[in-house]
Amino acid sequence: MSARVILFASLTLCAVLGVGGELLRPDPERRNFEFFPDMARSPAAESQSPSSVLPGGITHQGLPEGVVVRGGESFRYGPGPEEATRAGRELVNPLEHSAETLARGAELYRAFCVVCHGADGNGGGSVVQRGMLPPPSLLGARARQIADGELYHLLTRGQGTMASYALQLGPLQRWQVIHHVRALQGATR
Ligand code: HEC
Repeated sequence: MSARVILFASLTLCAVLGVGGELLRPDPERRNFEFFPDMARSPAAESQSPSSVLPGGITHQGLPEGVVVRGGESFRYGPGPEEATRAGRELVNPLEHSAETLARGAELYRAFCVVCHGADGNGGGSVVQRGMLPPPSLLGARARQIADGELYHLLTRGQGTMASYALQLGPLQRWQVIHHVRALQGATR
C-alpha cells in the first residue's frame, strides 16, 4: 500500500470519527441524530384498512394454520354430523349440577337462545312469532337423545341453519347452557 493511500485512509477515518463523534456526543440541549429514521418511524397501519403489501390486500391477517392461542380453546372436532357424534361419545360436561350453574345457564339461555327456541324450549321464540321457521323443539325426542358432548359440538360448530355460538359463549358458558337445556327437558344431571 502506498503512503498516499494510507494517508488518505487515515484522513477519511479521522473525518468519519470526528463527524460521528460530534453527532453522537450526548447533548441534552440537542435532538439526537437519527441514523435510520425508517426503522424508528415505520408507517402505522390501521388493522381494518386495506394493505398494499400483505397477502390478500388485508392488514388484519388471521392466525397462521395450526397456531393455538395461549389460554384459548382447542376444540379437536371439525364441523358436520360425524364429528358431532364423535364429540357426543367422547366429551362429558365438566360442570357438576348445581344451583349456581343452573342459574347461570338459565341466564345465558335467556340472552342467547330464547328468541328462537322460546322460554320453555318448544321453539316458539319471538322471532318465530314474526315469521321465522320454528327451530326443532328442545323438548322433542331427538333433542332429548343428543348427548351432552354433541350439544357442545352443536354450540361450538353450529348445526344446519343454526349458527355457532362459540364467539358469544365461552367453553364453560356452553356447558352451563347445556345444564339449562337438560333442566328444561326435565332430565337434570
Ligand atoms: C337464530 C335462531 C336460533 C338461536 C338464537 C338458537 N338456535 Fe338452536 N336452533 C335453531 C335452528 C334453526 C335449529 C335447527 C338447525 C338445523 O338442524 O338445521 C336449532 C337447533 C338446535 C338444537 C338441536 C335440536 C335438534 O333437535 O336437532 C339445539 C339443542 C339447540 N338449537 C340449542 C340452542 C341453544 C342452547 C341456543 C342458545 C345458545 C340456541 N340453540 C340458539 C335456531 C336457533
